[in-house]
Parts: sequence; C-alpha cells; structure tokens
Amino acid sequence: MEPFRVDAQRCNRDELCVKACPTGVIQMRSGDETPLPSADFADWCLACGHCVAVCPTEAFRLQWLGPEQCLPIEKNLRLSPRQAEQFLRSRRSIRNFRDQPVERGKLEKLLQMACYAPSAKNSQPWHWTVIENPAEVRRLAAMVVDWMRTVIDQYPQQARERGLPRVVAAWDAGQERICRGAPHVIVVHGDKDYGFGAEDGALAISHIELFAPVLGLGSCWGGYFYSAANWHPPLFEALGLPADHRAFGAVMVGYPKFQYQRSPQRNTPRVVWR
Ligand SMILES: Cc1cc2nc3c(=O)[nH]c(=O)nc-3n(C[C@H](O)[C@H](O)[C@H](O)COP(=O)(O)O)c2cc1C
Repeated sequence: MEPFRVDAQRCNRDELCVKACPTGVIQMRSGDETPLPSADFADWCLACGHCVAVCPTEAFRLQWLGPEQCLPIEKNLRLSPRQAEQFLRSRRSIRNFRDQPVERGKLEKLLQMACYAPSAKNSQPWHWTVIENPAEVRRLAAMVVDWMRTVIDQYPQQARERGLPRVVAAWDAGQERICRGAPHVIVVHGDKDYGFGAEDGALAISHIELFAPVLGLGSCWGGYFYSAANWHPPLFEALGLPADHRAFGAVMVGYPKFQYQRSPQRNTPRVVWR
C-alpha cells in the first residue's frame, strides 16, 4: 500500500512537504506531478506528521494520518511575547503542597501534554507510572531514604556531595524532602538500553512542569526519587517497572500551598558569539 497520497487537484506544488520532511523520504523530481515516497520511505519515515501538518491545502495524507485528524493551530491563541515570557519565567519548583488529591483527568491531561515534547527520532519512548495514592507516595519516599542510608554508608563522599546526609537527617526529624509532601509522583520510564532516555524523559517532564500551573497545579522534579528508582532494587520493584526498563525521570505533582509573586533574575547567558 502507498505510504501517502497527494490530492493532485489540491496540491499547489510548493514542495513544503518535501522541505519539512526531516529524513528526506518525500521527493519531487522534476517532471513529477505530485510528491512521491523515496524507495527507503518505510525505513526512514519518523511518523512525525510534519508533511501533513505543513500542507496549506490539505492535499497531503499519510496512510495513518489525514489533515482532519490533526488539531488546528489557532492563530488567535498565540501568546504575545510578554505572555510567553511570563509563562516561562513563572514556572517554579513547588515544594509545599495542599493536602488535596489531583483529579485523575488533570493528571491525564499532564501526560497528554508531555507527549508533545520532542524526542530523538520521534521515538516517543515514554511509559508512565503514576503513583496516585498519597499513602503510597509516603511509603516509596521511605524507601528512597533507605537507599540514601546505604549510599551514605558505602559511598560517604558521593553521598555528602549530593546532600544525602542532610536529607536523611531532615527525614529523621520529621521533614519529608524526598517527595515534599506531594500527593502524587509521576515516573517516566522506558527501555533501559535506549540511548536518549535521559534527554527524552527530561523534555517530557519539562512539558508537565510548564503545563501544571495552567491547571492550577505545582510540580517539582523528583531527582532523588528517580535516582533511587534505578539504583535501589526494592524501590524499582515496588514501582512495578518492567525489568527491561529504567526510570528516565520523576516529578511530584499536587496543588501548591502558595503562589509566587515575582521571579528572581537568572544568570545572564554565558555565550560566545563567533
Ligand atoms: C534533574 C533535576 C533533578 C531535581 N531534583 C530535585 C529533587 O530531588 N528535589 C527538589 O526539591 N528539587 C529538585 N529539582 C529542582 C531544582 O532544585 C530546581 O529546578 C532549581 O532549584 C531551580 O528552581 P526552579 O525550578 O524553581 O526555577 C531538580 C531539578 C532537576 C532539573
């Protein structure tokens, strides 16, 4: 079966599909009536849908994706530069959460938005495990502390560099600095041999962190949590991750206890212009 069809009536021969294709599997040789697939299309098409998305006349249709299946980009919803700047500047790591669970629908929405993150070769390698039960989050946080105690024991210098003794001391004093009292933790994981897991996982979590405030939510990277998931087998098992997976990242989510009023300056970019 043809991998794509181009409506010859609608196609305006602008070759945008050819130019937008990241792997060059859409071709238009001189004399071609409409774009054609390359011989190695099946091997190299990333299924990113750029060809369908870019076509201004809705002439291009992949076997699995037509223009009517894509969401429109609504020009009137574009953020102004000031709005976009505030949107990006106001994202903060939230470490104080209300004692209130987040509705399943909102957690699902976060995951849907995460899937719009870029990923190497559009591999979308993400699997998600959501710890929805706040009591389970507490139990897992305790397991992270167990792991920290073993690291402090076996690798004291490394543990000090990562601040683990302070976190454990705080835990012993009744302060939870692992999941920060968040009602939920979202873990992103995937094939343990996939080379871009860290990058793709971080980007997906970034989308969650950026979208969370839009839903009135707050979030914070679970750096200790996801390290422990990979290094502490009891936690890996308690999370129920498949044996051939590893955690790419984790993020705490909940309703923030308070709002920030201003955003501090960041370092100026260290840049070399050449
Ligand atoms: C990979 C990564 C791991 C992190 N791990 C933790 C963590 O375990 N606990 C925590 O409270 N914050 C964690 N953070 C949040 C950072 O401390 C935070 O992003 C940084 O201090 C800047 O603050 P902001 O996010 O509010 O702008 C982590 C952030 C990243 C990117």
